[in-house]
Amino acid sequence: MDSYLSHSMFMRLLFLLSILFLVLLTGSLSSLQPLCHEDERSALLQFKDSFIINMSASYDPSAYPKVASWTLEGGNSDCCSWDGVECNEEAGHVIGLHLNSSFLYGSINSSNGLFRLLQLQRLNLADNHFIGSQIPFGVGNLLRLTYLNLSLSMFSGQIPSELSHISKLSSLDLSGHIPSLSGYLTHLTFLDLGHNNLEGTIPNSFSELKSVMTLGFRENNLSGMLEFDMFLKIKSLSVLVLSSNNLTLLTKANSNDTLPQFHTLSLGSCNLRKFPDFLRTQNKLSWLEMQQNYIQGLVPKWLYNISIKTFRAIILSDNFLIGFEQSPLVLQWSKLEILDLDSNSLQGSLPIPQPSIKIYHVQNNLIREMSSLICNLSSLYVLDLSYNNLRGNLHPCFGNLSSRLSALQLRSNNFHGTIPKTWVEGSSLEMIDLSENQFQGQLPRSMANCMMLEYLHVGNNQINDTFPFWLGNLSRLKVLVLSSNAFLGAIKNPEINYTFSGLHIIDISKNSFSGYLPAEYFLHWNAMKVVGANDHLIYMELGFSGDGWSSSVQFSDTLTNKGIELEYDQIQDVFKNSSFRGNPGLCGNPLLKKCGDFKYTPTPPSPFEENRSSESPFHFGWKVVAIGYGCGFVIGVVIGQIVITRKYDWFVKIFGKM
Ligand SMILES: *[C@@H]1O[C@H](CO)[C@@H](O)[C@H](O)[C@H]1NC(C)=O
Ligand SMILES: *[C@@H]1O[C@H](CO)[C@@H](O)[C@H](O)[C@H]1NC(C)=O
Ligand SMILES: *[C@@H]1O[C@H](CO)[C@@H](O)[C@H](O)[C@H]1NC(C)=O
Ligand SMILES: *[C@@H]1O[C@H](CO)[C@@H](O)[C@H](O)[C@H]1NC(C)=O
Ligand SMILES: *[C@@H]1O[C@H](CO)[C@@H](O)[C@H](O)[C@H]1NC(C)=O
Ligand SMILES: *[C@@H]1O[C@H](CO)[C@@H](O)[C@H](O)[C@H]1NC(C)=O
Ligand SMILES: *[C@@H]1O[C@H](CO)[C@@H](O)[C@H](O)[C@H]1NC(C)=O
Ligand SMILES: *[C@@H]1O[C@H](CO)[C@@H](O)[C@H](O)[C@H]1NC(C)=O
Ligand SMILES: *[C@@H]1O[C@H](CO)[C@@H](O)[C@H](O)[C@H]1NC(C)=O
Ligand SMILES: *[C@@H]1O[C@H](CO)[C@@H](O)[C@H](O)[C@H]1NC(C)=O
Ligand SMILES: *[C@@H]1O[C@H](CO)[C@@H](O)[C@H](O)[C@H]1NC(C)=O
Ligand SMILES: *[C@@H]1O[C@H](CO)[C@@H](O)[C@H](O)[C@H]1NC(C)=O
Repeated sequence: MDSYLSHSMFMRLLFLLSILFLVLLTGSLSSLQPLCHEDERSALLQFKDSFIINMSASYDPSAYPKVASWTLEGGNSDCCSWDGVECNEEAGHVIGLHLNSSFLYGSINSSNGLFRLLQLQRLNLADNHFIGSQIPFGVGNLLRLTYLNLSLSMFSGQIPSELSHISKLSSLDLSGHIPSLSGYLTHLTFLDLGHNNLEGTIPNSFSELKSVMTLGFRENNLSGMLEFDMFLKIKSLSVLVLSSNNLTLLTKANSNDTLPQFHTLSLGSCNLRKFPDFLRTQNKLSWLEMQQNYIQGLVPKWLYNISIKTFRAIILSDNFLIGFEQSPLVLQWSKLEILDLDSNSLQGSLPIPQPSIKIYHVQNNLIREMSSLICNLSSLYVLDLSYNNLRGNLHPCFGNLSSRLSALQLRSNNFHGTIPKTWVEGSSLEMIDLSENQFQGQLPRSMANCMMLEYLHVGNNQINDTFPFWLGNLSRLKVLVLSSNAFLGAIKNPEINYTFSGLHIIDISKNSFSGYLPAEYFLHWNAMKVVGANDHLIYMELGFSGDGWSSSVQFSDTLTNKGIELEYDQIQDVFKNSSFRGNPGLCGNPLLKKCGDFKYTPTPPSPFEENRSSESPFHFGWKVVAIGYGCGFVIGVVIGQIVITRKYDWFVKIFGKM
């Protein structure tokens, strides 16, 4: 008993000692944290010394003089512990200064120590009094800034163009200044305030920027009425970008006024209800954006008579346009490369642009007819006519387009007849989507010429053919969808070695395939090693360069897994239908219907789930679905986002050798 007691006391002592040790260790560890850097400390002290504390300098009742604690006295030399100073933990660099409402009073210029804090990411100087000094251009040194708040801080004059060099800046609050721009009579030629959180409307004083050439406000939170005519007074203005706000443009200007000749006009989501009259005399436009407005009716004929030789891009998507006045079959803009008419209510015949066109989007309209002149567009790179009412045969000349064409999207129309046979050698096609039409007959064997093909979707048609082994040589093919057609016969063909070496997703559901489902396929479809990054198959990148907007449209060179998944999610009902389902003649693993033995075994727990933790060679991301189907069970497998890290043993174990 005694020995037990003393033992327990010993244990308690040991426990207390350990606690003490831990406390000491933690203490010594925290004192090991990096002190602030000496150069940054002296920069902060210099910043402090350039101001006096003036109790009238801040409005906020919670204001107090934070910099009063910034002193070397009392062993307080670690500037990371100073009020309002934020350091990063590992390196001890100053990354945040939170000095809003701190009674700072004085002027500030580019030699201020502040602009030597090169690691700074967040700077809040709101609600202080910088006695009308200009925002120093030195702010452009702070290239890591993501947040800058100079609201209510009595800066005045010009906003330095250096601000636009800070590419990471995502929040800029200059509120409390923008209304008084009298100091702007200036030589400012470039001002881009895009991608900030600017709120309110754009004040009329911007018209005082007499020599500005580029004004950018893209993607802010600007709203309310905008007296657009103030911009039309700036004769030097050439690039004006207002898209992605919620402004309502008011303009009385007409073609009789002398107006600046714009190069770029970006008027997306500006609550426009018609094409503004002042456009009539614009003859140097290269880039016009009017997407997401409320423009109704016909495109007026004067519009397709302006800037005939200069337009490169016209973006009219997401409006309520129903057609073109005088329905011109051929549009005259001779240098037009991008035409985006997506999501309108265009009817009748497809307008044909000039052969300069590279990207033509007319998705989601009511177009019924298309002239074979479309095949004259020899520079065409992306053609998206999905979700229209196009009918009849697809002209045989389409196959010829493929030498330049990269993406052909005809999804959800009423095409019928056979798919054109002339898919030329040297084709550039990476994506063909003919789904949701009424194509009949066979898949043309010349599609095997499309060596760049990554995505082929012919689902929901009436294609009557055998399994296209002959596509197996297309090493880039990642997505193959044959679902809901009249494909039939065996998938296995002993004559041919199965390659399909790049395949990620295959959907053969709702056909009449029969016979073995060859597991060899899965073994050879081993491309599932790629790890995805991009979200979109095709994306348009708009860049702002010094002399205006430039554009580049990119088609991802490789469809990454994630991109495919996203695309695929759109074409799949999110796995109610499995990829193999609906082929009553199919048997063999992974289907539970045994070949030559038509008894059904009850469904086991999904082998994938079971094996995942122990020996699954696959990373998560498998899409495996077990569905009760008719009188038996079918396991559907969609192979996507799979990373094979080890040998195939496990796979073979699950599917077995045929
Ligand atoms: C910048 O401000 C400091 C005081 O903060 C002053 O001493 C210096 O002369 C100013 N420099 C210029 C170029 O105005
Ligand atoms: C303090 O600021 C007020 C205005 O906000 C100003 O009138 C006053 O002169 C300032 N005091 C000093 C000592 O600079
Ligand atoms: C400064 O801003 C922060 C965050 O916006 C806020 O919490 C704080 O109350 C403000 N005032 C002072 C004196 O720090
Ligand atoms: C900027 O600071 C002011 C005053 O502290 C605050 O009201 C405002 O919300 C801040 N702006 C942003 C964008 O954080
Ligand atoms: C944009 O402004 C509205 C009010 O005008 C506000 O409700 C909304 O939160 C703001 N959005 C952002 C992202 O700042
Ligand atoms: C745009 O502003 C109007 C008022 O001017 C408002 O009714 C509407 O909800 C706003 N739209 C968005 C998307 O914020
Ligand atoms: C333009 O000027 C002509 C002749 O000066 C005039 O007849 C016409 O009404 C004017 N147009 C507009 C829209 O003001
Ligand atoms: C097109 O422009 C030319 C000259 O720029 C002009 O003569 C012609 O009348 C215009 N046509 C239409 C339909 O506006
Ligand atoms: C279409 O192309 C053919 C052959 O290149 C040419 O003869 C014809 O004039 C073109 N048609 C149009 C309207 O450009
Ligand atoms: C396709 O191109 C070939 C050779 O360039 C040409 O002979 C054939 O007539 C074209 N077919 C169509 C339908 O345009
Ligand atoms: C498919 O085509 C073959 C021969 O071309 C024909 O005999 C068969 O009836 C067709 N099947 C269907 C479902 O159209
Ligand atoms: C299939 O591949 C194997 C080796 O991988 C080879 O021996 C055989 O000849 C090939 N068969 C055909 C028909 O190409």
